[in-house]
Amino acid sequence: MKRVLVLTGGGDCPGLNAVIRAIVKRASQEKDWEVIGSMQGFNGVLNEPQEIKVLDDKAVRGIHFQGGTILESTNKGGPFAWPVKNKDGSWGSVDRSDELIKKLQLLGVEAVINIGGDGSQRISQALFEKGMNIIGVPKTIDNDVANTDSTFGFQTAVQIATDAVDKLVTTAASHNRVIILEAMGRDAGWIAMNAAVAGGAEVCLIPEIPYDPEKVNKHIESRFHKDRGFVNIVIAEGAHAKGESQSSVKSDEVGYAHRKLTGAAARLREELKAAGCQHDIRETVLGHLQRGGVPIAYDRVLATQFGVKAFELVKEEKYGHMVSYRHPYITSVPLKSAISKPNLVTPDTALIKTARGVGISFGD
Ligand code: F6P
Repeated sequence: MKRVLVLTGGGDCPGLNAVIRAIVKRASQEKDWEVIGSMQGFNGVLNEPQEIKVLDDKAVRGIHFQGGTILESTNKGGPFAWPVKNKDGSWGSVDRSDELIKKLQLLGVEAVINIGGDGSQRISQALFEKGMNIIGVPKTIDNDVANTDSTFGFQTAVQIATDAVDKLVTTAASHNRVIILEAMGRDAGWIAMNAAVAGGAEVCLIPEIPYDPEKVNKHIESRFHKDRGFVNIVIAEGAHAKGESQSSVKSDEVGYAHRKLTGAAARLREELKAAGCQHDIRETVLGHLQRGGVPIAYDRVLATQFGVKAFELVKEEKYGHMVSYRHPYITSVPLKSAISKPNLVTPDTALIKTARGVGISFGD
């Protein structure tokens, strides 16, 4: 029996379970392959005792529409930066990648499928360079992984954000208010921009286009006649005014490499007031609601396509590649090219032109 190990790393995302299920279902059509799963990314292999489970048809039955991941996930540490406590009580990290490779050999693992975002795929590439037979599957609600048209989970997040805009529009209109919705999107404004267009927001602020609060305020005023009118703003969590940086706090979670983005909407409220906005302003932070729950049909289909393709890449021994959607094909790209740059909104992005075409202001 040949063994393929599957894991999910980084922030969770609707559709992860559909990928796992598709890998298992496709592998079960082969007589000589067994699928095993590592809990919490590579931690399941590195932890003592190990946390590995056999994934057969029974283990994945009916999980295609379940949110989260049956393998659990982590966005802390990893094999190259495993957190360790120093003698003085502070935290440092050690590289356990060689140990990981040995442990996988002892488990009889022929190949690894790593389902995760850009951080996870950087780990995939580094392990591939150390000789591991590894395939990447791109995952992120932010849609910021390059060299794939889309990632699963993104459309579900857009739907959740759009539902929120739809609700906020009616309350903003009833109270003649400015309502700010803070959506996820660390470096990429895809969720915010799609939700703004779908929900008919008046302003959309994204990390790629630093905004001018005066210009945002001017646009707000153009939507009010005296004190009657309303404005809905969608702001990505990573958006900031010109000359400012992202609104964030340092994380005190051990092994968490990022700063925690928080406060973009609240800061915008203050900036608008400083720019002279007299209208009532309220803000709503959508947060992890965008990451949880049932994936919409589109994401289940894409996730299933990614899972089947991932196993086929293993069969072809096309290691060092990441599954990629290039309409109308499900194909693959070298991991190296996938992690070379993020997929960000650029000035020539078609949807920016559409958004401006329907009068949405980006505050620039
Ligand atoms: O990368 C996806 C994402 O949802 C970002 O938009 C967000 O900043 C981050 O994850 C938050 O992750 P967590 O709170 O799980 O660490």
